[in-house]
Amino acid sequence: MGEKLKVGMIGTGMISDTHLRAYAANPGVELHAVCDLNEQRARDKAAKYGIPNVYTDYRAMLADPLLDAVSVCTWNCFHAEMSIAALDAGKHALVIKPLCMNVEEALSIERATKRSGKVLQVGYVRRFGTNAIVAKKFIDEGELGPIYYAKASCLRRLGNPGGWFADKDKSGGGPLIDLGVHVIDLCWYLMGKPKVKTVSGNTYVKLGNRSNVRNFQTYRSSDFDPAGNTVEDLANAIIRFENGASLVVDVSFSLHAKKDELTVKLFGEKGGLELEPELSLVAEKHDTILNVSPQMTSLTFDPNNGFQNEIDHFVDACLGRRETISPVEDGVEMMKILCGIYESGAKQTEIHYPV
Ligand SMILES: NC(=O)c1ccc[n+]([C@@H]2O[C@H](COP(=O)([O-])OP(=O)(O)OC[C@H]3O[C@@H](n4cnc5c(N)ncnc54)[C@H](O)[C@@H]3O)[C@@H](O)[C@H]2O)c1
Repeated sequence: MGEKLKVGMIGTGMISDTHLRAYAANPGVELHAVCDLNEQRARDKAAKYGIPNVYTDYRAMLADPLLDAVSVCTWNCFHAEMSIAALDAGKHALVIKPLCMNVEEALSIERATKRSGKVLQVGYVRRFGTNAIVAKKFIDEGELGPIYYAKASCLRRLGNPGGWFADKDKSGGGPLIDLGVHVIDLCWYLMGKPKVKTVSGNTYVKLGNRSNVRNFQTYRSSDFDPAGNTVEDLANAIIRFENGASLVVDVSFSLHAKKDELTVKLFGEKGGLELEPELSLVAEKHDTILNVSPQMTSLTFDPNNGFQNEIDHFVDACLGRRETISPVEDGVEMMKILCGIYESGAKQTEIHYPV
C-alpha cells in the first residue's frame, strides 16, 4: 500500500456524493477510480472530484493493483457479488446499507472477509452520527442501566422512491430493508447487540406507491414508473432478544399518517434516551424525574457529520489503526432480523432463532 489509501467508488448515483465528499476531505485518501454502468454519470463524478480512472465494469476496476479499497454504492442486489469480488481481489470494502439481499449472501460476504483478511465495514452510517456517539457513551457509562425495551418508527406518508427501490428483485424489499435497517440496527447496537430469539412481523401492500397523490412533493428516483412497484408499503415487528429485551418497530413508504415520523427510543432500568427526533435523556434523581437536553450543535442525525465520521473510521480501519465498529458479523445479524420479519409477515407466524 502506498502512503495514501487509494479508493474506488462502485456506483456513482444519488448517495455516492456523501462518500466521495468525505473521502476527498480525508487527508489519508487519494480518490483513484470510479465505476458506474452509466458511463456519463461516472465521468461527471470523476470530473467533479478530479478522479483519474473511470470504469463501467467493476471487475476491471478491481483488477487495478494500485487500488486499496472500495465503496460499494450500487443497487442492493449487487452488494454481495461486488463486495466479495473486492475482498477476493485484496481490497477493503465499505458496503452501504443494507449489507445485501438475504442471509445466505451475508454469510458469503462474511466468509470472503475471513479468507481475505481485509476490512469489510457495513455502512450503518447512523452509528456514526454525533447523537449516536454521545448516546453510546452515556449508555456505556451505565446511565440507562440494563436496556429492556426499544421502540423505533420511520414512517413516510408518501416516500416510495420508485425505480430500483420499488423493484423487489433489485432492492430485496421496501421500507423494511431500506429504512428499517437503519433504525433497527441503531437500537440493536445501542442495546449492546443482544442475540435475537424471536421475530414476529407484518408486511402490508395496501396503498401502493400513491403515485395518484397531487400537490405533494417527494423524492422520486430518476426512473420512477408509477406502474412499477413490487415492494411492501408498511412493515412492523416485535423482536424479542435472548436477554429478555424487546424492540418494537414500524416503517413505511406509504401510509395514511398525519405526518412523517422518525423516532428512536430506548428504555432502561435506570433511565431512558431518545435519539430521534432529537437526543435527550430521561433520568430519575432524588425522587424527581429529569428530562435532560444535551447542548450540542445538532441533536438529530447530521448526514455531513455522520458520513465523514463513517468514512474516517473506515479509512483508519483500512490503515490498521483500529477495528471497525461496524463489522460484517453485524451485517449478518441484521440480515437475519430483516429476513425473519419478511418471513414472519409472509407466513403469519413467529420466527424462532436459530432458524
Ligand atoms: N443513508 C444511507 O445510508 C443511504 C441513503 C441512500 C441510499 N443508500 C444506499 O445506497 C445504494 C445506492 O442508492 P442510490 O440512492 O445512490 O441509488 P442510485 O440509483 O441513485 O445509484 C445507484 C448507482 O449504481 C449504479 N449501478 C447499478 N448497478 C451497477 C453495476 N452492476 N455496476 C456499476 N454500477 C452500477 C447505477 O447505474 C446508479 O448510478 C443503495 O444500496 C441504497 O440502499 C444508503
